[in-house]
Amino acid sequence: MKLFIDSANVADIKKAYKVGVLSGVTTNPSLVAKEGVKFEDRIEEILKLVPKVESVSAEVTPEAETAEEMIAQAEELIKINNYDKNITIKLPMTLDGLEACRYLTDKGIKTNVTLIFTVNQALLAARAGATYVSPFLGRLDDISEDGVQLVVKIAELFRVHNLDAQIIAASVRHPDHVTRVAMAGAHIATVPFSVIEQISKHPLTDQGLEKFAADWKKAVKG
Ligand code: E4P
Repeated sequence: MKLFIDSANVADIKKAYKVGVLSGVTTNPSLVAKEGVKFEDRIEEILKLVPKVESVSAEVTPEAETAEEMIAQAEELIKINNYDKNITIKLPMTLDGLEACRYLTDKGIKTNVTLIFTVNQALLAARAGATYVSPFLGRLDDISEDGVQLVVKIAELFRVHNLDAQIIAASVRHPDHVTRVAMAGAHIATVPFSVIEQISKHPLTDQGLEKFAADWKKAVKG
């Protein structure tokens, strides 16, 4: 399973990229709004920060409700990246979003259909040609449903029917989500930087480092 960072924060994206574990970036209107910067400027900045990743998802804004409006915004976003391949247009899971997805896919542009909460929505997005589908685990857990089970079912559906859309497990809140969606067959998990930090750690790793350091100090001092 590949890892994307779910963030519009330059410092966090830089840190994750430097570690060398990143395959992509996802953003959404809430994440960009939190940064208090102009949307297009931040997308351009992110694209420059992570030249070697497979995908940077830029979401059409809530002002775009019709397929035509989404396509018009997508065309502006694609220009930011000078028509390069790593920009991915993120579209909402609505009939208009699907129509825009089909149009952009047919033009060879990568797409990510977001806000997926059911297997049927994932099926529709895959049939509309989405490169990526994004089921939101944490938000299902928030309403007492099992978000990971949705990923399990979508992975099975895509396997049985040979659908080649990639699953981005989104709204990932903690390390156990990461492990479980990886085992379930998600192709990608998009996670905040705090989760990348958390999954790098274990108390026994820290204790082991302390012991190595103490033993080393003793040996050096004699
Ligand atoms: C994914 O693409 C979304 O940006 C994101 O994972 C949403 O997560 P949240 O439910 O924590 O806001």
